[in-house]
Amino acid sequence: MRMVDLIEKKRNGFQLTKEEIQFIISGFTSGDIPDYQMSAFSMAVFFQGMTKEERVYLTEAMVQSGDQIDLSEIKGIKVDKHSTGGVGDTTTLVLAPLVASVGVPVAKMSGRGLGHTGGTIDKLESVEGFHVEISNEEFIRLVNQNHIAVIGQSANLTPADKKLYALRDVTATVDSIPLIASSIMSKKIAAGADAIVLDVKTGSGAFMKNLDDAKELAQTMVDIGNGVGRKTKAIISDMSQPLGFAVGNALEVKEAIDTLKGQGPEDLHELCLTLGSHMVVLAEKAANNEEARKMLEEVMHNGKALESFKAFLAAQGGDSSVVDNPEKLPTAPFTIEVPAKASGYVAEITAEVIGVAAMMLGAGRATKDSVIDLAVGVMLNKKVGDYVQAGESLVTIHSSQENVPEVIEKIYSAYRLDDTEIAKPTLIYTEIH
Ligand code: URA
Ligand code: CA
Repeated sequence: MRMVDLIEKKRNGFQLTKEEIQFIISGFTSGDIPDYQMSAFSMAVFFQGMTKEERVYLTEAMVQSGDQIDLSEIKGIKVDKHSTGGVGDTTTLVLAPLVASVGVPVAKMSGRGLGHTGGTIDKLESVEGFHVEISNEEFIRLVNQNHIAVIGQSANLTPADKKLYALRDVTATVDSIPLIASSIMSKKIAAGADAIVLDVKTGSGAFMKNLDDAKELAQTMVDIGNGVGRKTKAIISDMSQPLGFAVGNALEVKEAIDTLKGQGPEDLHELCLTLGSHMVVLAEKAANNEEARKMLEEVMHNGKALESFKAFLAAQGGDSSVVDNPEKLPTAPFTIEVPAKASGYVAEITAEVIGVAAMMLGAGRATKDSVIDLAVGVMLNKKVGDYVQAGESLVTIHSSQENVPEVIEKIYSAYRLDDTEIAKPTLIYTEIH
């Protein structure tokens, strides 16, 4: 087989075989196929797309390019969740202990964040002592014991995807639905999930700016998951404004604690119940979504969800007393209010711009090696649809510095106020099976 022939075949719109796709991915991973040929191939895929079969073969080949985590020692159906980006997305922090407390095994492999705020691990590390450097044996033991554990990402998970994603980034081939879908799904599948719930975001703060694209991406990922024998469902949710109130690591941990008590922001609460219900059903702990939702509401109210979070933190070295005393979390020395310049209804909060403001405060990483400040971030006091009086605070900034004029300007540029009343945006658009 010659790579040049396969590039031509794809360029001309023909379907590649399983063997051909495996040849491409293993050759690229080993370095036998150079970047320039893989770039040309990615561009051919960008224009010609891939059939349902090709997408499954591509995903499988990427899974096989590195380690595959074996979770068979863990009892029950392991369900993983993935959100496609977003700003201030605290759902994982809430969902993991929430569904664990009704017996769903959560064996989560997670990474550090790049961009807006940290990843799930960074957020959890705002709890004193908490760490994810545990052995595979310990990881499996903890999931069997507490139904929940988080381990750092294996260095050799889907190396084909790592290399390809970096190449796509510099060859204008990131926003190809088959390439995005196979990239995301290969990582979930290699991490050992039996079943997967996807939260595909749409809106200004998301990869997929419009609903039709989000639906297509969701359907593509669902078909890949089911095509490789992992039960997969997706929902499409709104990212036209940040989720919840908190954007920042420790601030989001505090918000997750509130949500586990049933006292979280309305949108975050609802999204967690929706995603959580799907996870519970896929794990076969409830017969349908209504039953699953009742179970989750119950553990929020009777304290079991919070207990599960405490047990999880303590088992991985964390100071679980932060759950009852959130003031023990890292706290920024300065809080600065951003007052509305005029009265009106909040018509828009550009999620991406709020994310950039959090970055400027030091909540996120600009590069892989940046050190993040776990205490800083922003709290949104007003969300889309809310009425605000001139002088009322739109946002509270939590900062390590007393004066942050550029951050304040950023926040003003994210908010658009209007005289006419505006409905709250739809949170969950649809489900994809
Ligand atoms: N996220 C991924 O992991 N891969 C993509 O291709 C796009 C977003
Ligand atoms: Ca949030």
